[in-house]
Amino acid sequence: MNSPYHNPFRFGDPVEGEFYLHRPGLEKLVSQFLTNRIHVVLIGPRRFGKTSFLLNLLKKMSAQSHPYVFVDIFNITSHKDFLHQMLRALKSKKGWVDSLKAIVTSFPKLRPKISTQIDAHTGQPSFDFTFDTSLSSENDVKELIQDVLLGLSKLGNGLILAIDEFQKITELDDNGWLEATLRTHMQQLRNTSFIFTGSRRSVIYDMLNNPSRPLYKFCQPIEFPAFDNEFTDWILQRFKNVGIQCSYEAIEHLRKIVQDTPNYVQMVCFHLVAVGKNNVTVDEVNKALTIVVQQNAYAYQTLLSTLTATQQRTLRLAAKEGKQIFAKEFLTKYEIASGAALSSAIKSLKEKEILDEEGAGKGTVIFDDPLFAIWLKTSFGDF
Ligand SMILES: Nc1ncnc2c1ncn2[C@@H]1O[C@H](COP(=O)(O)OP(=O)(O)OP(=O)(O)O)[C@@H](O)[C@H]1O
Ligand SMILES: [Mg+2]
Repeated sequence: MNSPYHNPFRFGDPVEGEFYLHRPGLEKLVSQFLTNRIHVVLIGPRRFGKTSFLLNLLKKMSAQSHPYVFVDIFNITSHKDFLHQMLRALKSKKGWVDSLKAIVTSFPKLRPKISTQIDAHTGQPSFDFTFDTSLSSENDVKELIQDVLLGLSKLGNGLILAIDEFQKITELDDNGWLEATLRTHMQQLRNTSFIFTGSRRSVIYDMLNNPSRPLYKFCQPIEFPAFDNEFTDWILQRFKNVGIQCSYEAIEHLRKIVQDTPNYVQMVCFHLVAVGKNNVTVDEVNKALTIVVQQNAYAYQTLLSTLTATQQRTLRLAAKEGKQIFAKEFLTKYEIASGAALSSAIKSLKEKEILDEEGAGKGTVIFDDPLFAIWLKTSFGDF
């Protein structure tokens, strides 16, 4: 049935089709908010499946006459980058020829070069535009961002604007200009719903719960949930499809160790299939984990070498203890000078997106990369 090279597991990039396990409960909840024009922020840890979920949901909703624009801003460093990502997202929409043309030509500052082609196979017209913002001033760029946002109203009723990795907008050094601009347009665009995703929990909660910020209480936050037992069954079935036996305990164990992150569950399972295991047990999972973690050792060492001694000790403490890390005995055990030193190390590690704090409470931290935590735990022996 399956070629020996067909690996039923995938990791890294967003997944779809047979590699994607549906989340009907969450889909229903989020789509209800969006169809009622309640803006949503989906908050979940790194590699939890936020982008996959979002893309899958948007595809489904577009079949129910909710057109969408999906903008990925993970790598933006400036307003110009943000503008480019918006335009790129618009450009990827086939079949919106007339409305897109109307929007794009209404931006004289963009000096768009427009070409229309007729698709040789389908006979459908399509159009392309290129734009040159290399000479645009910061003010032009800001104006253009506003024009593009306003232009969304021409794209039809029930439009959904999705921005993936939303917290990036807070990293632009603009005194909150983009945050405020988004809020203005979210209010003005009466026929558009917004959905954002993000992984920096503390950053996003501040955006939504700090009364002095533009998006204060303006969006419905939704915690992206971990899978329930169904995920384990799904994994077992996928092993079975390629003739591999796997115990239920093995996958439950794996899920626990990787903080229930689907990406790492699939990564370890991929490895188990790739090396040709035909009977997966808890023991085999542990062996595979060790190998996968070791494969990243170089990257982890490099990362550590960029940190101060206190930051490194803080990471060891966090990896080993996880909870109540401000306890006095831990400070001594891990050679950290004071609670204040620990606080400031945690702050830096949060800024570097290595750690994040769980909920509002101090003292419980989670690793962005649970494999890094495993590596730290195993590399620094017991003491
Ligand atoms: N619904 C799902 N069913 C099965 N596997 C999933 C699902 N969602 C995510 N995964 C696994 O997690 C990996 C990462 O998914 P995705 O990129 O959607 O997560 P993310 O939260 O957007 O990650 P990032 O923090 O890197 O943006 C996928 O390659 C896949 O292995
Ligand atoms: Mg993502």
